[in-house]
Amino acid sequence: MSRIGIFDSGVGGLTVQRAILEALPSVDTVYLGDTARVPYGTKSADTVTQYSLRNARVLARHGIDLLVVACNTASAVALPALRAELAVPVLGVVEPGARAAARASRGGRIGVIGTQGTISSGAYQAALRAARPDAEVVARACPLFVPLAEEGWTDPDDPVVRGAVARYLAPLHDARIDTLVLGCTHYPLLRAAIARELPEVALVDSADAIAAEVRARIGEENGREGAHAFLVTDTPERFLAVAGLFLGRTVTSAEHVDV
Ligand code: DGL
Repeated sequence: MSRIGIFDSGVGGLTVQRAILEALPSVDTVYLGDTARVPYGTKSADTVTQYSLRNARVLARHGIDLLVVACNTASAVALPALRAELAVPVLGVVEPGARAAARASRGGRIGVIGTQGTISSGAYQAALRAARPDAEVVARACPLFVPLAEEGWTDPDDPVVRGAVARYLAPLHDARIDTLVLGCTHYPLLRAAIARELPEVALVDSADAIAAEVRARIGEENGREGAHAFLVTDTPERFLAVAGLFLGRTVTSAEHVDV
């Protein structure tokens, strides 16, 4: 049975874990949320790379066969350093998400939204152009989406949600994109609100895209339901309180680790 290590800056990467477990219910996982250092999306590439290496070293001690970098910001800036250091394969969410969007787009007008760090790294833009050289890419950071999702403010009818979504997505609407990459762990929770704002646009979730890639790599493993461990770098209470929103099932215990 395979064991997958997954890390994120905090709780958001549980959307990626959720997609992986839907695709591969019998894999074992060890999830590390760097809740003491979240958010990564506003920090420099060097800092995010150092944090990512520390997270990966802890997970490597848990006998993992594969490391999934669930955090889009870390995937955008830290993959080369992680791949240079780890003995196991390392997958990030950016390339699978970009490839899925390149396939989904009819006319090649592709939008991507993410944290400030993800968007200013240019990683999605480069991956989209590599996957589809004719693509016209429009990128936009949407920093308020992260706290909205963690607050549980995701209802498309909520005026605060509507206002934030309309304001961030207006340039993408004006650019007449046909496909949009949800390039942040938290954005799947706002999917309904985003879909209402951009009804004609195909939404591509990088969590689903990496889950498909993990499944293609590991193959279907039939058998018992997988075992899941959760590690956090801050006290577990806040993580446990909001984990269910992101994972779609209750998390009852998480262990504190120093990285
Ligand atoms: N997990 C981050 C990402 O997907 C969002 C939260 C943060 O800024 O740390 O980019």
